[in-house]
Amino acid sequence: MLALRSSGLLGALAKPQLARTMATAKSSAIGAYVGKKNTRGNYEVTMIPGDGIGPEISKSVERVFAAAKVPIEWESVDVTPVIRNGRTVIPDAALHSVQKNTIALKGPLATPIGKGHVSLNLTLRRTFNLYANVRPCKSIVGFKTPYEDVDTVLIRENTEGEYSGIEHEVVDGVVQSIKLITRQASERCARFAFEYARTSGRNHVTAVHKANIMKLSDGLFLSACQDLAEQFPDVKFDDILLDRACLHITQNPVNFSNTVMVMPNLYGDILSDMCAGLIGGLGLTPSGNIGRDASIFESVHGTAPDIAGQDKANPTALLLSAVMMLRHMNLFAQADAIESAVFKTIAAGKVLTGDLGGRSTNTQYTDAIIGNL
Ligand SMILES: NC(=O)c1ccc[n+]([C@@H]2O[C@H](COP(=O)([O-])OP(=O)(O)OC[C@H]3O[C@@H](n4cnc5c(N)ncnc54)[C@H](O)[C@@H]3O)[C@@H](O)[C@H]2O)c1
Repeated sequence: MLALRSSGLLGALAKPQLARTMATAKSSAIGAYVGKKNTRGNYEVTMIPGDGIGPEISKSVERVFAAAKVPIEWESVDVTPVIRNGRTVIPDAALHSVQKNTIALKGPLATPIGKGHVSLNLTLRRTFNLYANVRPCKSIVGFKTPYEDVDTVLIRENTEGEYSGIEHEVVDGVVQSIKLITRQASERCARFAFEYARTSGRNHVTAVHKANIMKLSDGLFLSACQDLAEQFPDVKFDDILLDRACLHITQNPVNFSNTVMVMPNLYGDILSDMCAGLIGGLGLTPSGNIGRDASIFESVHGTAPDIAGQDKANPTALLLSAVMMLRHMNLFAQADAIESAVFKTIAAGKVLTGDLGGRSTNTQYTDAIIGNL
């Protein structure tokens, strides 16, 4: 299963062998990829190019995949939302494609701020019940940041918590937003974190919470993690308050080396971006959304409207998300080859996009990666 197999992205950055071992270490029914090759000998994968720089970075991925001869046929779909019976829904063609393929790669989607629109990312998560978001954060050799030794994996509960979308006005000038936590969703996410830790060889799960303040909601999340820990005696378990986690990881990331951190939705959103900052930014950070019936891999940065259409976008995050996806699909050789080519290009430091301190275009950077395959 992806995460289990792709604990991947980064776990496997330096440890392709471990990733292969994990691939055979099926430990539960969570998120397993069961796709079959079509009559042309290829897997069919849904591509959601997205908005802004999305089409540019998606094209880079398609070019690199073609050069690496990955046995994949992309099914490109548009997820511009449609309103049906007053609800924001995914167009049927896109829905059917992801349901059929059970796997998708997604570029960034623009979310208008304010009233009238439910976030399309949220809609995708709800539609496909993508309950766990996996964000490996590992320093990239050759890319200098103030931190050289970051190596953690963040797993964020993806379906409820502060992002349940239950908000209302009590009286004029007073609004209420409800943070919904259920034992079922907490346990599902915690189980995934423990399985991930076990199969990726990390063997250490840390629950991040604020149960000292939100005694009921975060208390329930923490108690679900504690209960699960008893079923995984081989995995070390501890917990930490969110504020302390932020302090400790920025003081010394080694404090969290080799851990899997699991947390409710909002904390995961913030902490994962903070950790992305430690390794060089969102342009380098991949992610996978794991669900029971489908999994969607995506870059975590936005649509970058300021550089869209200018061939300046860095496709690395989407490429590395695609590498995670390949490991989810058991295509380890291709994943290793593409990942090595990306890191070799970054380490060489000659052909880099502007956000990485270079002057090259997306096209030139993609060409360099292909040259390093
Ligand atoms: N996962 C998603 O689909 C997702 C995530 C975040 C934001 N968004 C949406 O994206 C839109 C813009 O959001 P934002 O401006 O806050 O964040 P952003 O990530 O789009 O941009 C922030 C800054 O980072 C730069 N940047 C981002 N990705 C880059 C890349 N791959 N290469 C080079 N530079 C890159 C941008 O140029 C910009 O300067 C909004 O509509 C927001 O809702 C979508």
